[in-house]
Amino acid sequence: MTAPRTSVVLGRGAPLSCSDPSHEIRGAVNRLGRGRKGERVFWDVQSYFWDRRGQPDRARKTVEDRAEWLARYRERTGESVLDIGCGTGDYSIALTRVGFTVLGIDFSPHMLKRAQIKAHRAGSPVKLRRVDFNKPLPFPGAAFDHAIAVQMLHCAADPLAFLTEVHRVLKQRGHFLLVALRANPPSGDLGKPSARQRGLVESAFWKFRRRLIKRNRWPRFEEDELTHLLESAGFQILEEAIGRKSVFLMCQVRTGPGAN
Ligand SMILES: C[S@@+](CC[C@H](N)C(=O)[O-])C[C@H]1O[C@@H](n2cnc3c(N)ncnc32)[C@H](O)[C@@H]1O
Repeated sequence: MTAPRTSVVLGRGAPLSCSDPSHEIRGAVNRLGRGRKGERVFWDVQSYFWDRRGQPDRARKTVEDRAEWLARYRERTGESVLDIGCGTGDYSIALTRVGFTVLGIDFSPHMLKRAQIKAHRAGSPVKLRRVDFNKPLPFPGAAFDHAIAVQMLHCAADPLAFLTEVHRVLKQRGHFLLVALRANPPSGDLGKPSARQRGLVESAFWKFRRRLIKRNRWPRFEEDELTHLLESAGFQILEEAIGRKSVFLMCQVRTGPGAN
């Protein structure tokens, strides 16, 4: 049986109770790009705008569809999912709604704060924890039934080492849903701000973000490259699809001969 559905505010919903970001943004933008701390500050700033990107209805549908996709592979409700780079918690919340037990991890305290507020509003029992996925994950082996990682692989310092860690913390036959930014998206769309993403500070921020992507500060991935990385980490690919901006791969911890 799946958990009862409750409505959740995505995108344009009422503003969350965070303080005005402008003063933090000005300071943070000056520190951007300087090593690990700079990256964390970047995502702290991004947390203020993350839920204002794209079209809220389409975003909600996409998140729900992906949660249901993972649910099709489970054996029973209540199985655990690790949501890696959970951001403001949309996937974590959607996964609890379809009956998973979810731990969302992220290294940005501001992302986690927003995730916590949204989960509280939605009545979602998601648990959140501050974790840097560029270090060994602080969980024992086989700790989770499944994992999901949406649009965060470009932030992994060593994608293969990261995927090997994900494999380690999953149970035998556990599933992993990876959504990664694809190389050469046909539209060349790098996240154009929508009309309501106006305002001097916010526009400047989105411009800066697009520049980061264009300079390949954030790598994008070919489908073959992702398949190779996942197989090298010990996963078997069950399904794959390619969208306008992303590659989607549903995988399973490989068992039997040749498994890690
Ligand atoms: C593009 S967002 C995706 C958020 C969420 N998965 C979603 O799709 O809505 C990437 C997330 O990864 C987090 N992140 C980046 N580097 C990280 C790291 N080294 N450790 C943990 N989280 C990290 C950021 O804070 C951000 O929340």
